[in-house]
Amino acid sequence: MIDHLDKAELSLRVRELAQARNAIVLAHNYQIGEVQDVADFVGDSLELSRKAAAVSQDVIVFCGVHFMAETASILAPGKIVLLPDEHAGCPMADMITAPDLEAWKARYPGRPVVCYVNTSAAVKAGCDVCCTSSNAVRVVESLPDREVLFAPDRNLADFVARRTTKTIIPWDGHCYVHNNIHVRDVREKKALHPEAEVWAHPECRPEVADLADKVLSTGQMVQEAPRTAAREIILVTEPGIIHRLKKDNPGKEFYPAHDGIYCVNMKKITLRKVYHALDQMAPRVEVPPDIAERARGTIEKMVKL
Ligand code: 13P
Ligand code: SF4
Repeated sequence: MIDHLDKAELSLRVRELAQARNAIVLAHNYQIGEVQDVADFVGDSLELSRKAAAVSQDVIVFCGVHFMAETASILAPGKIVLLPDEHAGCPMADMITAPDLEAWKARYPGRPVVCYVNTSAAVKAGCDVCCTSSNAVRVVESLPDREVLFAPDRNLADFVARRTTKTIIPWDGHCYVHNNIHVRDVREKKALHPEAEVWAHPECRPEVADLADKVLSTGQMVQEAPRTAAREIILVTEPGIIHRLKKDNPGKEFYPAHDGIYCVNMKKITLRKVYHALDQMAPRVEVPPDIAERARGTIEKMVKL
């Protein structure tokens, strides 16, 4: 029974159990603080994919959302991948299905499809190359074609389109977290903290990205925080990242652009669920071998770049 344990005791129990199971705990930058703190490694989507591909442990406990656990499972065949809450999905990833993708490709024959890592394995399997928010421009630029289909995030597609001479044909998906932060929210925060720099994630609306001093993936925010001369930063992204930024940069202040917006699915993972996942060795995320093989090609092309 773990119900009586406080956070510190529960974290210790998670670490003990992880060791007993020969498991590594990976957490996305948007996870709640105590889950980030118990993890072996915290990172953005690209860093977590790279880490998963290289793990030596038998078990990966993936503290993030479903498509990320699928990606880990694809890149680490033979490993057991646990997602502590099986209902932690990504609504943006669900905005395009494999049949949607096939119908879309049929309308634009001959064009390559770049899929954001925020897609299901079945969708990745039907695409040419994958990307994350930190390498999307580089991935698109690496293609010889002049026209490129890009799914599912229309805001990330717009971000890429502004930085390439290629024609980007976007799918009309979005992240409700980033898309719900508006220009007025950023302006209001800036009025409260006039000295602060504004950093936006590429999933933000274009008009919000235009207001930002820097547009960065979560991993790039982590790298930039100790480098910047700014002592105050307004973050136009999911506020879970503030835990890590404050821990790494105690002399700086970080403010969310909106006080009430967060990713409900990222917050579904709790310390207790991490413990139960390790204890029960469930819920597991498994990708059918034929889909995994095709999706692996799409992801590996990106990882090589
Ligand atoms: P990163 O690739 O920056 O980690 O973002 C993932 C994500 O889900 C953003 O909403
Ligand atoms: Fe999906 Fe947005 Fe949550 Fe990221 S923040 S997992 S894109 S819903």
